[in-house]
Formats: sequence, C-alpha cells, structure tokens
Amino acid sequence: MQKSSTLSKLLNIKYPVVQGAMLGVSTPAMAAAVSNSGGLGSLAVGGLSPEKTAELIRETKQLTNRPFAVNLFANPIPENIDAARFNQMQNFLKDLLEKNNIPFERKEAISLRPNSYIDQIDVLIREKVNIVSFTFGLLNEESISKLKHAGILLIGTATCVQEAVLLYKNGIDIITAQGIEAGGHRGSFLDQDVPQIGSMSLIPLIADAVDIPILAAGGIADGRAFRAAMALGASGVQIGSIFIPSTESIASNVYKQAVMQAADVDTTLTKAFTGRWARGIKNKFMAEFEKSGLETPDYTAQVSLTGSMRSYATQHDQKDFISMWAGQSSSKAVRGTTTEIFMKLVNDAGIDK
Ligand SMILES: Cc1cc2nc3c(=O)[nH]c(=O)nc-3n(C[C@H](O)[C@H](O)[C@H](O)COP(=O)(O)O)c2cc1C
Repeated sequence: MQKSSTLSKLLNIKYPVVQGAMLGVSTPAMAAAVSNSGGLGSLAVGGLSPEKTAELIRETKQLTNRPFAVNLFANPIPENIDAARFNQMQNFLKDLLEKNNIPFERKEAISLRPNSYIDQIDVLIREKVNIVSFTFGLLNEESISKLKHAGILLIGTATCVQEAVLLYKNGIDIITAQGIEAGGHRGSFLDQDVPQIGSMSLIPLIADAVDIPILAAGGIADGRAFRAAMALGASGVQIGSIFIPSTESIASNVYKQAVMQAADVDTTLTKAFTGRWARGIKNKFMAEFEKSGLETPDYTAQVSLTGSMRSYATQHDQKDFISMWAGQSSSKAVRGTTTEIFMKLVNDAGIDK
C-alpha cells in the first residue's frame, strides 16, 4: 500500500495534507475549511488556558464534523526566570520603544505565570478530540498514557533524527519532520544549538530511522515541492506559510502583504521576539536585538516582554515591530479562501488519494 494511503487511513482524511497549527494566525475557521476539504486542519492552542482550549475546540466542532488536530506546546515550564537577563531586556526594550514612539510598560518577573500543556490534557480527552499534535518537546509519560488510553492519535515534531527516534520510542504515532525552511518556531528540544537541517536531508534520514509515517514540513508551497517530499520518503505534508494570506487567517493586512512579497533571502531565524528560535521576515526589531548582543530570558518570559509591543505594532501597521513568522517559500503564497489555497495545492501535486 502506498505510504500516503496508510497515513490517510490513519488520520481518516482524503488527501495526505495537514494544515499546520499557527498560533496567532490560524483559526477554527481555517482548520475546519481544511478538514471539510479532505485534509487535516489543526487548531493552535499552545500555551492557552484550559478554558480557552475547550472554547476553541467547541467552535471548531461547530464548523466541521471531520477530524482535526489540536496542537500543544510541549515545553517544560522553567522554575525561575533569570532576573538579570529579564531586567537587561526590559531596559533595552524601554529605550528602543521610546525612540520609536511605542509604549512600553515594565513587568515584574514574578507576575508571569505561563500555562502548561499538562493542564490541557484532560480538556482534550473531555472534548473527545481525535488527534493531538505537539511541538517544542516530548509530552510527559503520564500525558502520553492518558491520551493513548483515550484512543487519541499523537503527532510529534522533530527537527533532527535524534528527536524523531525519541518520539518514536515513546509511542508517538506520526512524526512531523520540520526542515529549516519552515516558518515559525523551530520545534527543536534536544540540542542547545538548534538543528538547522534542510528538508532534502531531513526527510530521508528520519524516514530511514523510524517505522512510522512522516509528515514533511517546511518550504512546501506548490505541487512540485509536495511531490518531492513524498519522493523523499514522507507519507504526507504539513503546510503553514501559504495559508497566512487566506481569508480565514487572522494575520494583519501588512503581515499578509509582507509574506506574499518576501523574497527567498528575506526570512531568518531569530530569538528576538520570544526567546525561542523562529523563522520570520527580517525587520528592524530583529536587527536592533542582534546589535544589542543581549541574551533573552527564557521562553515564555520574552513572549510576555514583547507582547504589548507586538500588539501595538499590529494595530498601528508598524511591521518593524511585528513578529511576522514565515517560511523560505513564502512568496508563493497568494490571497484566497483556505479551501481555494488547499485545493490548488492538492490539484497541482496530482497526488493519489
Ligand atoms: C505563523 C506561524 C505560526 C506557527 N505556529 C505553530 C504552532 O502554534 N504550533 C506548531 O506546531 N507549529 C507552528 N508553526 C509551524 C507550522 O505548523 C508548519 O509546520 C510550518 O509552517 C511549515 O512550514 P512552511 O511555513 O514552510 O509551510 C507555525 C508556523 C507559522 C508560519
């Protein structure tokens, strides 16, 4: 049996295409549109409260009765925030934002209480989710066992062979192989030096190392790249950036425009906005952060510190201070409904169902 049909059977979908979760961009309407078109939509709930998670799952279920994945952030929450780094970062932000007429309010490190995925697990089971995907780590043993016991299929993210093997050995059902081309955060969780392996190398290496289906993620923006990923050993693909300009996306208009215009050289990896490596369109904030030579406090403290700046910049169309996550093939993105973008990709690829 073809690898793609094994994956489609496992996920109960028609086409081996997953719309990648995109926190801050994707919506229940986007996930439902993909699921209703025969792919697998993903709902982004990484870092959200259990209440918000339940609300978004219910909203998605109102829009589709097809399967969709719910996506978690599997990072452990650090016990303490490095106060020195936190304060240095606040000083840097205050100076920079004042110079650029963007309001900045100081925060107390102690006031930041990030949500953990562990508190979302029972909600996923209660809401009868079929598929859970995750990034930034491996879920703990108890969570894996609870989810499996409830019959939920698990999709983990790997950026190198070692991560893929660890996910496989811990009973994860499907692996998203995230190449360096991908927009958004690196899912990396083992190596301090974030792996930077391109999909051309990563897909066959992971396909040879594990005996479960692989979804190729990163740089897949047309039928040729889709077919290439399948030829390299993937059972399906996970797509993000080309859905950013879609009607169902909540990205701002300037962000959508920047994505469609981003040349191959216009994205880079940065820790500036969140303290975790992520690929986005280069802008002034990234450049000023690099110049500062500062280290960020850990994810998610940096997310909190840059939060008001990102919202203000979004509201005022100041793209120099927005985190515009996007992959290396972003310029292939065009406006349209999610369904139109999805069907065009599937038809261009001519992949057997
Ligand atoms: C704006 C944006 C936000 C993202 N947020 C998430 C997320 O919440 N969870 C996740 O697992 N992956 C996230 N990703 C990764 C995507 O799910 C997907 O794997 C990636 O976009 C594929 O590469 P491409 O952008 O080249 O298509 C995000 C990507 C983008 C562009």
